[in-house]
Amino acid sequence: MIGRLNHVAIVVADVAVAAKIYHEALGAKVSEAQKLPEHGVTVVFVELTNTKVELLEPLGENSPIARFLARNPDGGMHHLCYEVGNIIAARDRLMASGARVLGDAEPRIGAHGKPVLFLSPKDFSGVLIELEEA
Ligand code: CO
Repeated sequence: MIGRLNHVAIVVADVAVAAKIYHEALGAKVSEAQKLPEHGVTVVFVELTNTKVELLEPLGENSPIARFLARNPDGGMHHLCYEVGNIIAARDRLMASGARVLGDAEPRIGAHGKPVLFLSPKDFSGVLIELEEA
């Protein structure tokens, strides 16, 4: 059911510092920082040949990643995003198998303008999973 790994999201205290390390130490191609106030994050995309890494810094008072950074002050991996062909079909199959979908289980438009859902880390080896309709 799941397809490509769309991205790995890493929460950081400062995207400029993290982007510099990815660019200079790891030699990766990195984007400019983009503020996404509606998602409560500032993001830098690290472009790899087979997927992306998204460096996320909390933005604003109610950032959904602020608590994660408070618990992980050095930063850390926040979620993996897998692509699916049909997000409703994927959700229904997961829920039928007992997996918990976060929130009201209705897809939202994510940071890439496509429908997304998040799955409880409790059901996936401690890893928060985002599904994105490709
Ligand atoms: Co994501």
